[in-house]
Amino acid sequence: MEVALSNPKLISLAAGFVDTDSLPVEEVKAAIDVVLGHPQQAKLALQYGTTQGHPPLLDWIIQHVSQLDRIPSEKQTLSRKNVVLTTGSQQLLYLLSEMLLDTGDIVITESPSYFVYHSVLAGVGVNVLTVPMDNQGMDTSELRRLLERIERAGELHRVKLIYTVDYFQNPTGLTLSAARRQELIEIVHHIAQNSQHRILILEDAAYRELRYEGEELPSLRSLDHTGQHVIYAGTFSKPLSPGLKTGYAILPEDLLEPLLRLKGNHDFGSNHFSQHVLTQLVTSGAYSQHVEKLRTIYKEKRDVLLQSLEEHFGNLSGVSWTQPRGGMFVWMSLPIDMPTSPDSPFLKAALKEGVLYIPGEFGHVSDRGPAPTHEMRLSFGSATLEQIREGIRRLRQAFDSVPCGQQAATSLN
Ligand SMILES: Cc1ncc(COP(=O)(O)O)c(C=O)c1O
Repeated sequence: MEVALSNPKLISLAAGFVDTDSLPVEEVKAAIDVVLGHPQQAKLALQYGTTQGHPPLLDWIIQHVSQLDRIPSEKQTLSRKNVVLTTGSQQLLYLLSEMLLDTGDIVITESPSYFVYHSVLAGVGVNVLTVPMDNQGMDTSELRRLLERIERAGELHRVKLIYTVDYFQNPTGLTLSAARRQELIEIVHHIAQNSQHRILILEDAAYRELRYEGEELPSLRSLDHTGQHVIYAGTFSKPLSPGLKTGYAILPEDLLEPLLRLKGNHDFGSNHFSQHVLTQLVTSGAYSQHVEKLRTIYKEKRDVLLQSLEEHFGNLSGVSWTQPRGGMFVWMSLPIDMPTSPDSPFLKAALKEGVLYIPGEFGHVSDRGPAPTHEMRLSFGSATLEQIREGIRRLRQAFDSVPCGQQAATSLN
């Protein structure tokens, strides 16, 4: 990182930052003007709020997520007892881990997965077991096999949580398919019926609204008709602005009180002013217009990244990458003998060329043997179109400058 930061011409395809140019400056300014323009509302917004969050925004979240799931209002079963606002979804992930998990418990995640969450789990001392992914997301047959093995070992009661970033995952860009969504829900229902053990699914939908093609898939939460098994984590960071640092949970009713007690001890409520500004942004329609705009912007960036990869790496065997239909990430695999690790010749060469990526091994835990070291996460969130094109060109130069890669990959030209 030091080398990287000392080079002002470095192109970062590493950071998970959102697109800077499209941040909604005017929209937020207008919303703040409205909030502060009414003396009564201004004072409310500048006062403490509740631990749970600003009620109109809680109501909007219920309505919004239900609309995404195409649940007609007469079939709506959620109430304010199912929703809480947090300081970004990251706080929620942390609080839930503290609340639900004890040392030695088992959490199942996708492999690879959101590495910041892995470090939260490491902090709690849980045993992280992983399930591989393919183009349909988490491999649910593998999940079944894993759960059967755990049950045979008499450890099923220790499995507390299955964590999935099921839309345009960070770090792979992959999405859990409709059939696998059903299967995942069936798996936890089956265990609840047969073993009277409740496994929760933490559905991290951080990138859900950044969808550039394909149909809107129903959330796991909406498929869980018992309402007992899914905690849905959402955020305003990706579809609007991380600076407002506001996330939310939709969760089974019995989890609300313990979560609020814990959150109360942490902060007795997230940034109340942000919540008032957000309420204005969602009710004025500025939020949905912004999401539409972002979809166009990120789609173009994704297309440019995929075209550039095709142009510069398309003729190499042993090199592949995902084709995300949304989100901000592409997951790239190099030949197996071309490590991308922090101390690898390839990363050094990439830094020398002036491009940075996230080494793929950060996304893995080594429960299934040594983590793969030949993958990387490429982000098209904050880089400009020109930087994306140039960044991938530099990445290919780095690839060519490492002797091992030249031997490993056969040019198809
Ligand atoms: C998958 C995933 N979940 C949660 C978060 C946390 O985001 P925030 O706390 O800004 O809502 C991120 C941020 O990058 C993420 O990628």
